[in-house]
Amino acid sequence: MDPVQNPYAPGAGRRPLELAGRHAELDRFEILRQRVQTGAADRGIVLTGLRGVGKTVLLNEFRVLAEQHGWIVAKVEAGGNRPFRASLAQSLNQALRSATGRHGLTDRLRAALSAFKAFTLKAAPDGSLALGIDVEPARGRADTGDLEIDLTELVLELAETAGDLGVGVLVLIDEMQDLSASELAAICSASHESGQRDARFVVIGAGLPSLPAALRDAKSYSERLYEYRQVGPLKGDDAEIALVRPAAARNVVWSDAAKEVILGVASGYPYFLQVYGKTTWDYAKTSPIDAEDAGVGAEAGRDELDIGFFGSRWDDSTPAQQSYLRAVAEGGDEPSATADVAARMNRKPSELSVARDELIKKGLLYAPERGAIAFTVPGMASFIERKGN
Ligand SMILES: Nc1ncnc2c1ncn2[C@@H]1O[C@H](COP(=O)(O)OP(=O)(O)OP(=O)(O)O)[C@@H](O)[C@H]1O
Ligand SMILES: [Mg+2]
Repeated sequence: MDPVQNPYAPGAGRRPLELAGRHAELDRFEILRQRVQTGAADRGIVLTGLRGVGKTVLLNEFRVLAEQHGWIVAKVEAGGNRPFRASLAQSLNQALRSATGRHGLTDRLRAALSAFKAFTLKAAPDGSLALGIDVEPARGRADTGDLEIDLTELVLELAETAGDLGVGVLVLIDEMQDLSASELAAICSASHESGQRDARFVVIGAGLPSLPAALRDAKSYSERLYEYRQVGPLKGDDAEIALVRPAAARNVVWSDAAKEVILGVASGYPYFLQVYGKTTWDYAKTSPIDAEDAGVGAEAGRDELDIGFFGSRWDDSTPAQQSYLRAVAEGGDEPSATADVAARMNRKPSELSVARDELIKKGLLYAPERGAIAFTVPGMASFIERKGN
């Protein structure tokens, strides 16, 4: 089939042509939006899931929906050693400038902008994060240098402005597990304060399954502060919809046998469905796509995953980390006890803690509970097994 017309969207955060099986999340967001916009408080949401399940796509979707209703929306991707204050400031700058464009510089908006400017000056004293914000920085608002205090003050200021404008403030945080404990604590604190005042401020975070524990370590009340939702692989019909509908939009049909092949190898993981959908499309000559096309597509897709999705992570690891990953892989995709992993290597767990911690930091492994370890990357165990030694 014409590769130019290929309707599949393998990638990171790329919107699929068919966003399958996420009605519950989208409905939840819509209720939250309406509640907040009518002045009722609601909890924020924390989405957790393995690599490639579609967390970023959901955050992007929430962003679009909120922006359609005129909300002030900032999206931050944590990690990369950039402090949260700077990333948030950069994203809010745009959101506030477009709010000013839409609503004009009301007194209320001016007050929010000057608190925002004070907030940014603590991250970039040269004013580079407040470019285009032509107001004087506020004194004594959001400018102590302590993120927990400053963020709360800024958020309350912004939320009040949002109330004036009849909208809300939404802060989306991707890869949230990469924030430091003090940054997580500051965010919890801001959510906590704003929640108690019915302020129009919502945080939606997304991250690896380790995120709830990281939040709990930062603030013990965080478990009540957010609604936690696991984003998992797509179930039967939804996986099929994700595979079939993009092709149907181009008048191309999947035969039952072809569907069976790809649904079998993709195990419902959205990223895998996009990769296999794409490789099969590129190989198939005519509609309907048949089992032979799917067989070749499955092999091509697996090669692509082995090089990119799995291989790049493997090649990025040191020999010591690779030995550890091999031992975890012996337990398959299920979590292993760290003591068992050590036993598989004839070592003591304490001798392996450096490699393990590095792999957690890289986001390749996570601790589903104390004393256990698992892959964040679905299918990594079989990849390592396929690789052999
Ligand atoms: N509901 C869905 N239906 C079909 N395809 C989807 C769906 N959600 C995501 N995808 C596709 O899956 C891939 C991965 O999505 P996304 O980048 O959002 O995953 P992620 O959970 O953020 O992964 P990571 O943890 O690596 O950041 C993308 O190619 C996207 O188009
Ligand atoms: Mg993502």
